[in-house]
Amino acid sequence: MGVVVTGGVRVNKTGGFESMVWENVPLKDGGPGSGEVRIKHTAIGVNYIDTYHRSGIYPVELPCFLGLEAVGRVIAVGSGVDDFKTGDRVGYASGPIGAYCEERDFPSDKTIKIPDFIDDESAASILLKGMTVEYLFNRTYKIKKGELFLFHAAAGGVGLLACQWASAIGAKMIGTVGSDEKVALVRNSGCEVVVNYNKEDVAKIVMDKTSGAGVSVGYDGVGKNTFQTTIDCLGSRGLFVSFGQSSGMIPDVSLHKSFAPKNLYYTRPSLLVYNKTKKELELSSGAVFEMIKKNKISVGVGKRYKLKDAATAHKDLQSRKTTGSLILIP
Ligand SMILES: NC(=O)c1ccc[n+]([C@@H]2O[C@H](COP(=O)([O-])OP(=O)(O)OC[C@H]3O[C@@H](n4cnc5c(N)ncnc54)[C@H](OP(=O)(O)O)[C@@H]3O)[C@@H](O)[C@H]2O)c1
Repeated sequence: MGVVVTGGVRVNKTGGFESMVWENVPLKDGGPGSGEVRIKHTAIGVNYIDTYHRSGIYPVELPCFLGLEAVGRVIAVGSGVDDFKTGDRVGYASGPIGAYCEERDFPSDKTIKIPDFIDDESAASILLKGMTVEYLFNRTYKIKKGELFLFHAAAGGVGLLACQWASAIGAKMIGTVGSDEKVALVRNSGCEVVVNYNKEDVAKIVMDKTSGAGVSVGYDGVGKNTFQTTIDCLGSRGLFVSFGQSSGMIPDVSLHKSFAPKNLYYTRPSLLVYNKTKKELELSSGAVFEMIKKNKISVGVGKRYKLKDAATAHKDLQSRKTTGSLILIP
């Protein structure tokens, strides 16, 4: 195999949208390394975490292509790989970082075969976000049928899948959104109660709906702007699941002042830790595929962009105007 060059959107220096630049970079001479598969991408998932990597909130080694999620075809296999062959349809939703490119080498033990009933674009929109909902609802806290719970940013990529998953198990999600335009979409996706947190008093509504008891669990991917609201919505010994910070990092808090009055629990989970082993990855992706097969969850791709326009996708995602999942097409 001669020198293979891949194009992609790379960050050489962390910063704003302008720091995302197109670069052509040679892949490893001689094909993928031991334990790796070479994947030609057909669809790439955009996730909020990509913006943290771009801006430097989450430090990464530079320069690097951004991205943790993509789908494509195996075009070569390295030594020691016996569970994949050339032509397989595969995807992944984890590091090593570097999905915003045309072709790359990726560890086979973190690669997932994509079932025939899911097309490439749907898979790229649902793998990372779907497995996030799986572990949040099954493993961080087991959501029960009939249970009311809080979930912020319900119209987003993770949010819309959460609405459908909750509805499928008969749980009653109280979902928050940032504008009235998003309300109908969230309600139609299975969310029981939709609150515009820029206009309404979320805690008051939650307390009304729970007869003053508060919810047992609050899922908060918004961070800085919703931290206190989430605390206010929880009942005694409730669980605060802080899984992201689209509005910014939660500032230093007084643990005693925030958590002692209601004896709350706090966890800061991540998909990368929940799906660390091959077995966990298979169970998690298997649960997501099962939900798709039974038509319990589906993905409307929110918006498609050319890979070269990844900076525009970041701009749109951070403007709070998007709903559902965004994907890049190489
Ligand atoms: N820990 C994990 O394992 C894990 C895995 C996947 C995702 N996540 C986290 O889950 C969250 C959702 O991810 P996603 O990719 O699906 O993104 P997303 O929800 O599609 O987009 C983020 C949403 O956050 C809301 N938001 C509130 N305040 C904001 C602000 N100041 N700036 C920008 N957005 C703001 C916006 O919705 P409104 O306008 O409706 O408020 C926006 O649409 C992110 O925090 C992400 O980091 C965590």
